[in-house]
Amino acid sequence: MRHFVHPQGICESDSVGAGTNVWAFAHVLPGAVIGKNCNIGDHVFVENDVVLGDRVTIKCGVQLWDGLRAGNDVFIGPNVTFTNDPFPKSKQRPAEFAKTTLEEGCSIGANATILPGISIGRNAMVGAGAVVTRSVPPNAIVQGNPARIQGYVSQIPKPANVVSRAKHEDSPVAVSQVQGVTIYQLPAFEDIRGPLVAVEMAEVLPFVPARFFIVHTVAGSGVRGEHAHRRCEQFLLCVKGSVHVLVDDGLTRQEIILDRPQIGIHIKPLVWAAQYKYSADAVLLVFASHPYQANDYIRDYGTWLRTLNKPHTLSLGETVASAKHRANERGCGSQARSRCVVAEAPKRCE
Ligand SMILES: CC(C)(COP(=O)(O)OP(=O)(O)OC[C@H]1O[C@@H](n2cnc3c(N)ncnc32)[C@H](O)[C@@H]1OP(=O)(O)O)[C@@H](O)C(=O)NCCC(=O)NCCS
Repeated sequence: MRHFVHPQGICESDSVGAGTNVWAFAHVLPGAVIGKNCNIGDHVFVENDVVLGDRVTIKCGVQLWDGLRAGNDVFIGPNVTFTNDPFPKSKQRPAEFAKTTLEEGCSIGANATILPGISIGRNAMVGAGAVVTRSVPPNAIVQGNPARIQGYVSQIPKPANVVSRAKHEDSPVAVSQVQGVTIYQLPAFEDIRGPLVAVEMAEVLPFVPARFFIVHTVAGSGVRGEHAHRRCEQFLLCVKGSVHVLVDDGLTRQEIILDRPQIGIHIKPLVWAAQYKYSADAVLLVFASHPYQANDYIRDYGTWLRTLNKPHTLSLGETVASAKHRANERGCGSQARSRCVVAEAPKRCE
């Protein structure tokens, strides 16, 4: 099966995958590389240094400028605007155009504007009309101008209501839906002098901490974390205010609100985690099982998925030459150690 070009479309590239449609008044320049089963809508313009994966949908009225890379299953809504020159001047070309990377499975809503040099993470969702000024983490939902994270797509790959409140007053430990994550209710006491949370580290925590750090004064739109650890375990407590903690084991994702100092989350190694929606007064205390080591961090979501050995077909960051080669090959141009007080069966945190 060859690709299809509408009689009123212009496709100058011979690196277009089978089953791809190029519709009327679209123009694809010769250097562009386009995968299989893509849909290029009416009035789409594709410049030379553009590489698209398979099953990419581009709705009408979109221009893909030099430097754009899109992975498989990317959706680009109508009239989305990409940019590749941060400070454009007429008749002055930059030495090199900024790269825009759209990772596998992400979607960009109608009329969004993506500023130069930005990546949109795997499975992320950009809301209609958003002006995206910073890279978007994997699975994040962003909207507004400037675009801010409003939530995370909850289960791969379908969007859902992601916020679930930690409710386990009758149980000190609750397994979460995400493997490697356990929610603790810490010993709390209240009398006429006021409330107190008290923890014997060796008795209550699932590990004896080697260090701690405190995150505070984070602006409401700030996001921290967005990584996994290879060996380090962490125990998170929001000692003041509230913060949302997103945890992901590669199959299931859950968002837990920490809004009381007696609730803690134990996160094992190889769980992807991010913290966001900090209240203005939030103070997040994090105990870590190991001293700081830069090489303990996995900061790239695709690398992390590969480490977990989950299905992964990203084909981003490749050069036009290697993508052309690819197109030609296709023949187309523990449960946490719980020493908390009550030995009750763990409950799901809904
Ligand atoms: C961003 C988006 C994915 C959020 O969807 P959702 O989670 O179902 O969000 P809701 O509709 O429940 O809206 C939640 C809140 O966000 C606001 N909101 C939703 N989309 C927004 C957007 N694109 N920009 C700004 N605010 C938005 C809503 O007004 C609502 O605010 P409120 O709580 O103050 O009333 C969705 O609104 C969107 O923009 N989808 C893209 C549609 C599109 O362009 N399709 C292209 C193919 S035709």
